[in-house]
Amino acid sequence: MIEIEASVLSSDFLRLGDQAHEAEEAGVDGIQVDVMDGRFVPNITFGQGIVRALRKILKVTLDVHLMIVEPERYIEEFSEAGADRIFVHQETCTHLHRLLSHIRELGVEAGVAINPSTPAGVVEEVLDVTDIIQVMTVNPGFGGQKFIHSQLDKISRLREMLEKHGYELPIAVDGGIDTITAPLIVSAGATVLVAGSSIYNDKASVAQNVAALRASIIK
Ligand code: DX5
Repeated sequence: MIEIEASVLSSDFLRLGDQAHEAEEAGVDGIQVDVMDGRFVPNITFGQGIVRALRKILKVTLDVHLMIVEPERYIEEFSEAGADRIFVHQETCTHLHRLLSHIRELGVEAGVAINPSTPAGVVEEVLDVTDIIQVMTVNPGFGGQKFIHSQLDKISRLREMLEKHGYELPIAVDGGIDTITAPLIVSAGATVLVAGSSIYNDKASVAQNVAALRASIIK
């Protein structure tokens, strides 16, 4: 089953709760909160308080995507705030295996995200402590960017690597996902689509956009 998650990075921040709830009502499988510190990526967004507030109103999976340096400093706080899944970037972790193990010990699903320039092989030695891998198909920091097509081959190679090691982990893809790129991403082996600007925009309602994404991946 392919999961669709709404990234609230492209939502109307003045109506964040309503927009997240709209996506939930529209049938998304999860909400992803993009936490940015202005250091790992050139943008600053949300903190623990936003996750805590969203947790109170949402029933679906609540993902926290930490695009921050030294993410180990905040794992406990985002866990306490109610994250079901925490993604850390491999590029920000000296001791990735230890950090992913720690996330799991907190009862939170452990996710590792990799930037477009990072080879899939960097996660090969942490599969035993990973619940989901997120391939960035834009350079992280902003919504509404153009999909980087070269990452499709990486997604396929990652799926092959997981199969070689006997892991059936979900592969999430984040960045530039719309009705055109979604089927390509699913064919490459991804199982979780994280979409922001193709869900939150002024072209159609959240419900219409989610339905269009869902329809685009039905074989
Ligand atoms: C990049 C963000 C975005 C966001 C999705 O740092 O992580 O990828 O979630 O944005 P769109 O779907 O607009 O590319």
